[in-house]
Amino acid sequence: MGLVRQADAPLRGLNTFGIDARARLLWRLESLDDLPQLCEALRDDAGKGQAQPPLILGGGSNLLIADDPQQPIVQMALRGLRIVHEVGDAVIIEAAAGEAWDPLVRWTLSQGLAGLENLALIPGTVGAAPIQNIGAYGVELRDHFESLDAVDLGSGTGRSFDARDCAFGYRDSVFKHAGAARWLVTSVRLRLSRTADLKLDYGEIRAELAEACIVAPTATDVADAVSRIRRRKLPDPAVIGNAGSFFKNPLIEAEQATALATREPGLPCWPSGDQVKVSAAWMIERCGFKGMRVGHAGVHERHALVLVNHGHAGGGEILALASRIRDAVATRFGIRLEAEPVVVGAPQL
Ligand code: EPU
Repeated sequence: MGLVRQADAPLRGLNTFGIDARARLLWRLESLDDLPQLCEALRDDAGKGQAQPPLILGGGSNLLIADDPQQPIVQMALRGLRIVHEVGDAVIIEAAAGEAWDPLVRWTLSQGLAGLENLALIPGTVGAAPIQNIGAYGVELRDHFESLDAVDLGSGTGRSFDARDCAFGYRDSVFKHAGAARWLVTSVRLRLSRTADLKLDYGEIRAELAEACIVAPTATDVADAVSRIRRRKLPDPAVIGNAGSFFKNPLIEAEQATALATREPGLPCWPSGDQVKVSAAWMIERCGFKGMRVGHAGVHERHALVLVNHGHAGGGEILALASRIRDAVATRFGIRLEAEPVVVGAPQL
């Protein structure tokens, strides 16, 4: 198809929050062959005084558009899935950045490859997965990450990043930090296995398998169980706009966690290295926000960590509710919540 350029492009269908914003300029990249042309067009645009680096859009599932973005937007639409290397049980697969994540998980399972089953049904694209080191049910992308290819949109040159280069953290990587906006991830390689090493200890996975009378689960059984749990707890963006968890679970010092757990009995805490991760959903619920609605913005009734768009919420409305939540949690618990999605068109929360 080539490189598609659209001025004054509607964004409602391109972000899972369903925010009705417009892009000054949107490029859709469907082939690697068009990268030089894209880089040149972006340089041209920058030459006309648009100093902001472009915004890369995958599935738009970890994004809150607070105002019409003025920077150019690049919609990543590169496709392709393949097995690149196989030694014994270990298999390296490569997926183009524009592939949708959940279909990739299902494709790996159909190839007899285990590893991504706990990450089933996460919205978004392959290219976005390493940016925030997606994670769920005790597994993170970094556990199976091999390397990725990216292109510097400023110079047009490409390079590979291994796990060390990516500096993965909890919902974090080098690509979320200053100066990294110039990198366009084009493909990701993952390390999987023909022998399943199932991670069943998080939350409700075992109960869900027992409920389905499965005693010797396969990787596909686990993916199915995770998908059922997610469908039950998390709203489907196709039905009600949202970006999954709106806040990260805060990491605090062990001493502070002990004091807090004494004062606030029942607060879910998980050890995480030297620190302790505490449940943001629980704190938000205790502050009375679960199910709350303010205009078109709201907090989901089944999960307090998920902010939702009940129809025509502007990004500013969602952001205002997020600020109220953050202030209430800070006042009661003395903890500052950090937003998980990228906020465009306004300062980060
Ligand atoms: N909880 C509440 N109230 C609620 C929801 C949950 O008190 O409304 C409590 C639960 O009782 C539980 C604890 O909070 O004890 C944790 O809940 P849950 O298992 O739903 O996980 P989470 O910590 O809220 C994280 C990820 C999710 C991921 C799940 C499962 C973050 C920010 N979120 O949520 O990821 O699916 O664990 O692994 O780490 C996402 O990143 O968008 C996302 C959905």
